[in-house]
Amino acid sequence: MRFDILTLFPQMFEGPMKESILGRAINQGLIEVHTHNIRDWGLGRHKQVDDYPYGGGAGMVFRPEAVFGAIEEGLGVKLGSAEEPAPPPDFPILLMSPQGQVFDQAMAQELAAYPRLALVCGHYEGLDERIVQHAITREVSIGDFVLTGGELAAMVIVDAVARLVPEVLAEESPGEESHTRPLLEYPHYTRPATFRGWGVPEILVSGHHGKVADWRFKEALRRTIKRRPDLLVKLELQLDKKERKLLEQVLGEEESQGHS
Ligand code: ADE
Repeated sequence: MRFDILTLFPQMFEGPMKESILGRAINQGLIEVHTHNIRDWGLGRHKQVDDYPYGGGAGMVFRPEAVFGAIEEGLGVKLGSAEEPAPPPDFPILLMSPQGQVFDQAMAQELAAYPRLALVCGHYEGLDERIVQHAITREVSIGDFVLTGGELAAMVIVDAVARLVPEVLAEESPGEESHTRPLLEYPHYTRPATFRGWGVPEILVSGHHGKVADWRFKEALRRTIKRRPDLLVKLELQLDKKERKLLEQVLGEEESQGHS
């Protein structure tokens, strides 16, 4: 899978893309990450990319020329004009923006199905709306907070999408963890069996695989009920008969402890 990142700060991506799982995936040729410096398409001697907002007000706004140039020349995508509208590009061009649809695991899965994605990192007060209307496929936010720019958001999305690309994760299958189902993960324990006097749940060292699986599922439910009750409605629709029974047990236990 190929990621193209349009940014004023390509160096921000150098560290994160070299390390750990993403670094290995790039070395193995499973993913490619190409950065394009929007300033290379800036105007004049100063490579200007921004300007004052029409109508006044604080902050600067990305001018359309440089971003259109970066998309057309950097990505090889033909963009249109008022007279000659262009067909949609072959791959999504995402704009990182707090105005966008909020990114989640379902969107990560949807995006991972494309062989190529472009991510445009905004800055300043925003982008001239003609860029958003005529060059961007979709606006994406990583949450209801405002970052200084789109770069960290782009890294989050590249990370979450790349790990769904086949073979990027060496061991774990991404299907089994938090948010593939709307269920938080159960707590994990490893050695030592006692650390500073704190033990581990007896059941985990019992060697009884069936009981361990039930305990884990119930702890996952307990966490979800306590921390993310908003996920429960969606989750309940996906439970089989046995899981439903375990949910009822947990709800009963929580209520009898007065936590519910
Ligand atoms: N740029 C600034 N804030 C952002 C956010 N929350 N998500 C994506 N891009 C952003």
